[in-house]
Amino acid sequence: MRSRPVISPLRLGVNIDHVATLRNARGGRHPDPLRAAHLAIDGGADGITAHLREDRRHISDEDITRLKNELTRPLNLEMAATAEMLAIALRHVPNACCLVPERREERTTEGGLDVVGQRETLKPFVAKLKGAGIRVSLFIEPDLQAIEASAAVGADIVELHTGRYCHMALDNDAAGLAGELARHAAGARAAHAAGLEVHAGHGLTYNTVQPIARLPEIVELNIGHFIIGEAIFGGLPAAVRRMRALMDEARQHPAVVMASAGGAA
Ligand code: PXP
Repeated sequence: MRSRPVISPLRLGVNIDHVATLRNARGGRHPDPLRAAHLAIDGGADGITAHLREDRRHISDEDITRLKNELTRPLNLEMAATAEMLAIALRHVPNACCLVPERREERTTEGGLDVVGQRETLKPFVAKLKGAGIRVSLFIEPDLQAIEASAAVGADIVELHTGRYCHMALDNDAAGLAGELARHAAGARAAHAAGLEVHAGHGLTYNTVQPIARLPEIVELNIGHFIIGEAIFGGLPAAVRRMRALMDEARQHPAVVMASAGGAA
């Protein structure tokens, strides 16, 4: 009996927040995040991600309504764990909600959710979303305590925050980059072993995506700012296609084979 490596396909969720950032710079309706979502899907996106921030700096309530009603792929709604956002999520029932920490003064989501500290409030929050049939993801640092706490509060998924890893790449800090990659590899393994689905994202680019895509436990990447930026130069479907191709190529050479499945090949 031959054994074969088990490596699941890697999905790409395209985050369209910054199409809305550009629209909001002038008001009005152009460029339209929904049109961007359709083009991202044409380019090979498996799902669309949008962050409805408390201050509505990019995605609006109307965007969420239109995305939910018109998308042909799953919607992943990123949001803070607040009563207002819970009501919105329960009204729209997206495929998934990714709970993120939110601070008004930050430019983007800096650091992961403090799941250990917020365990008591997150548990009923997660339960309400799951009760409505929404898959729940927690955006966390690849930290063992946060992973254990995520499983304990009933999350389905953890999304590992790749921001620090990407910063090390920008700073050309090879030792720091290797350390961050090892932290993600260990985090992905631990989360998978705890029964959690593992996603990753934040700051990923054509240059940084492949080492993360090679981690076999990770089954979804959520990428926004870089893809939308590249779309200015070569179009959105082309930018998504290139990211997809890099992910697929990396997946052919996983970092560590997760397990072996016996039986017929
Ligand atoms: N995942 C989560 C949970 C995020 O909050 C963000 C940023 O909105 C991303 C992924 C995508 O990050 P980026 O826009 O840097 O690719």
